Amino acid sequence: MQLRWAHAVVYVKDMQPMLDFYTEILGFEIADRGPINGDGTPEIVFLSQIHTDHHQIAFLEVRKEVEASNSVNHFAFRVADLNDVKSMISTLKQDGRATALNPMSHGNAWSIYFQDPEQNGIEVFCDTPFHVAQPQGKTWDPQSSDAEILAWTEDNFKDQPGFGPIQDYYDKRETELADRG
Ligand SMILES: [Fe+2]
Repeated sequence: MQLRWAHAVVYVKDMQPMLDFYTEILGFEIADRGPINGDGTPEIVFLSQIHTDHHQIAFLEVRKEVEASNSVNHFAFRVADLNDVKSMISTLKQDGRATALNPMSHGNAWSIYFQDPEQNGIEVFCDTPFHVAQPQGKTWDPQSSDAEILAWTEDNFKDQPGFGPIQDYYDKRETELADRG
């Protein structure tokens, strides 16, 4: 048996502003919605942008107060490439609803961290061609060219433990996971 991460259900205070942000800015579509109790409340709204996943995230409007303290640090979404991450950063900056924008590279990822309108931590990232032992984190410059960012990443992480091509790491982990009792 293998457990694969599938979705999260998040308590929200004001449903509509959250739906607006997630659909207009992050590209989600509303897959389904409806009351979870017979009396019509509270409503749950399911969001997805992958056709084989009914929902990747769902909102339940039961949150009393918005405060940053929460048991979840952030939710992360993978995009295809650096261009997508850069484009997300421009969109978020232009839009202004997301806060605490923080471009961070872990050596194995190029990420933009931010907070959604209810201060949930969100990360949008793409993979780099590298693996490096974690945790790692350095601020990267989204204004640089892709080639500059690639060179900067190699330069900044190549002396850290475990640095190497991502495929080597995948191969090693595949063997380790297959070998476990
Ligand atoms: Fe993360």
